[in-house]
Amino acid sequence: MPDAPSPPVSMETLVALCKRRGFIFQSSEIYGGINGFFDYGPLGAELKRNIRDCWWDDMVRRRDDVVGIETSIIMHPKVWEASGHVAGFTDPLVDCRASKQRYRADQLFFAAVVVDGATVGYVSALESERTPEALQEAAESLKRKKAIQGRLEPVKPRDMTEAAPEEIPLIPSPATGEPGSLTAPRSFNMMFQTNVGAMTDASSVAYLRPETAQGMFADFKNVVDTGRVKLPFGIAQIGKSFRNEITPRNFIFRSREFEQMEMEYFIHEDADWAKCHREWINWCRDWLISIGLPESHLSEYDHPKEKLAFYSRGTTDIMFRYPFGVQELWGIAARGNYDLSQHEKFSGLPQSIFDEATKRKIVPHVIEPAVGVDRIFLAVLCAGYAEEDVKDDKGGSEKRTVLRLSPRIAPVKVAVLPLLKNKPELVARAQALHKKLQRRYAVFYDEGGAIGRRYRRQDEIGTPWCVTIDFETIEKDGSFTLRERDSMQQRRIQEAELFALLEEKVY
Ligand code: GAP
Repeated sequence: MPDAPSPPVSMETLVALCKRRGFIFQSSEIYGGINGFFDYGPLGAELKRNIRDCWWDDMVRRRDDVVGIETSIIMHPKVWEASGHVAGFTDPLVDCRASKQRYRADQLFFAAVVVDGATVGYVSALESERTPEALQEAAESLKRKKAIQGRLEPVKPRDMTEAAPEEIPLIPSPATGEPGSLTAPRSFNMMFQTNVGAMTDASSVAYLRPETAQGMFADFKNVVDTGRVKLPFGIAQIGKSFRNEITPRNFIFRSREFEQMEMEYFIHEDADWAKCHREWINWCRDWLISIGLPESHLSEYDHPKEKLAFYSRGTTDIMFRYPFGVQELWGIAARGNYDLSQHEKFSGLPQSIFDEATKRKIVPHVIEPAVGVDRIFLAVLCAGYAEEDVKDDKGGSEKRTVLRLSPRIAPVKVAVLPLLKNKPELVARAQALHKKLQRRYAVFYDEGGAIGRRYRRQDEIGTPWCVTIDFETIEKDGSFTLRERDSMQQRRIQEAELFALLEEKVY
């Protein structure tokens, strides 16, 4: 997979900003946290809601061919047998018996250390942007430690799923640095299990859904029978999904509880699926750009044919350049009619629809764009974060932190600031404007501190505009100062113009 240079912001900086300004907290922090779970604070909840709302508006409300549903998180366990999740929703797991650490086998890399053609030992490293370099350094260090003379060959990294049984006892654990404690990879099912009802036996086992998609398939006939839909059409849903990830990591990028926005677009079995697939990839890319992601950070990755499931016709991921590398943001899969056919088989109920053109019953095929809200959230923060040197009030230079969030998703659209808090006329006018704006938009009223400091506070949380009520507002024509976050330019504006600007930019 191609890897591009990281944008300037580090994950530590972003995590610190998220905590400081109330975007994201570690879940259950007062008890030491719980790995892979997060809470969204006041600003984070607004930002996340805006991402969801923009997607729902564009994907469902503004299209005539997509309907939205909301299905339950716990479904009949047979759903997950039919979908293949009970048997196959697994990751390869490696245990370290000495440290009790667990690793995803495909994220734990090793290499033989070969000197003058002979293997003299093994080294290991966890997946990172510099795995090959880390393994090479470890190999050099092992050669030095063992005082072996000769030419060290360049290491050939492999992951633990590729290790031969006789190699496993020789590979050192990343936790202890010693060989002998790693187990062979075994399949670990990532679904969270629970029990429904008072009994906790095999008959009551159920699962927290690992994807929202099966809700759309299980309700396919209900929607067809009640929704006045005709092929091609889509069923969309936004909701929580749960995966017991072996190694949740990179903040909210891979967590155990996350939110998905998925859409199943049903097409005729004879339709040009490749064309439809491409149209949806383009739609997803354009949508990401519409909420402010720079095109330069986006790329595409086509899954190789030999790695696809047998029923899959093709999957393309839209990749985003995160600080920790280029990673999957949005998967767009052409799944044939596998899911509906499986539910037909397992439920015994037909999942076909009558095709007027051919007077035949058909089981439609599907194109599935599936994305995580949390991954988009992280992407907009990574792309929007900047630190700049700017002029301060006295003509000197100061640093400003700014989040360049699109007005569509910014948690606060406008901050209303009276120039002075001890002038009742200014405060009253500012509060009146604040109340009026609040009926339609998320706005913030702030009268504390120097005006420059108040601007900086808003820059840091991504507020696109500040309006300042000053003496001209009350003594002259009612206009106020509009200050733009990105350019920092200021101009006089009337209230009606402000509402027109918001109408245009916040949609
Ligand atoms: N129904 C298909 C499906 O769920 P997926 O590639 O497993 O496909 C779709 O997931 C999207 O959900 C991913 O592209 C990613 O954006 C998001 N996602 C998956 N696992 C996640 C996790 N552990 N944490 C956060 N987001 C995740």
